Amino acid sequence: MIIAIDGPAASGKGTLARRLAAHFNLPHLDTGLLYRATARALLDQGAKLDDAEKAVSSARGLALLDFDEDRLRGREMGEAASVVAAIREVRAALIDMQRAFAARKNGAVLDGRDIGTVIAPDADVKIFVTASPEARAQRRALELRGRGEKVDYAAILEDIVKRDRRDSERADAPLKPAADAHVLDTTDLNVEAAFAAALAMVEAARV
Ligand code: DC
Repeated sequence: MIIAIDGPAASGKGTLARRLAAHFNLPHLDTGLLYRATARALLDQGAKLDDAEKAVSSARGLALLDFDEDRLRGREMGEAASVVAAIREVRAALIDMQRAFAARKNGAVLDGRDIGTVIAPDADVKIFVTASPEARAQRRALELRGRGEKVDYAAILEDIVKRDRRDSERADAPLKPAADAHVLDTTDLNVEAAFAAALAMVEAARV
């Protein structure tokens, strides 16, 4: 069974994807990490984020080791990843790896922006997780505070709105629900309620 989870920044899709993967004993790929690691490689080389040539070779050169770092989850890298992710050739360089993951024998859970639309259009179930920008900013603020980062709610909200716009308006694989996705709005749901709703969607797709 392939479960595709998409949604905007800080919608809770990562938490849901992890929980669903644990529940169904499936491997999970957080595809945002691929773009974050590509952005980090560029920044570490002192290259510009819109340097398509260097971005593609960074994307191609990713190794598992590259995902094991706290810095990838920070605010700076989310923003940088969104810039790099708008480069068509970077997305192309990362497609095979993601499709191979989705094609694992017993299936997989993938979360990102274009899983249901581009990476796994034949997924057994697609969930588009969303929430109001304010709810997402509040969650992101809590998460960053928990990681010991200094938090400025207004700046986080501004980031989220900017990132939504960039991710939704890019020409290649923009953020949008697949035509056959179930939309799950978690604005007024806690983690448990969101998980229960997602589980019900997956169970319904299995029968
Ligand atoms: O899910 P995230 O916040 O870790 O993603 C960081 C950025 O990477 C996001 O703003 C856009 C990009 N991304 C993408 O374009 N496609 C994906 N499947 C996953 C992430």
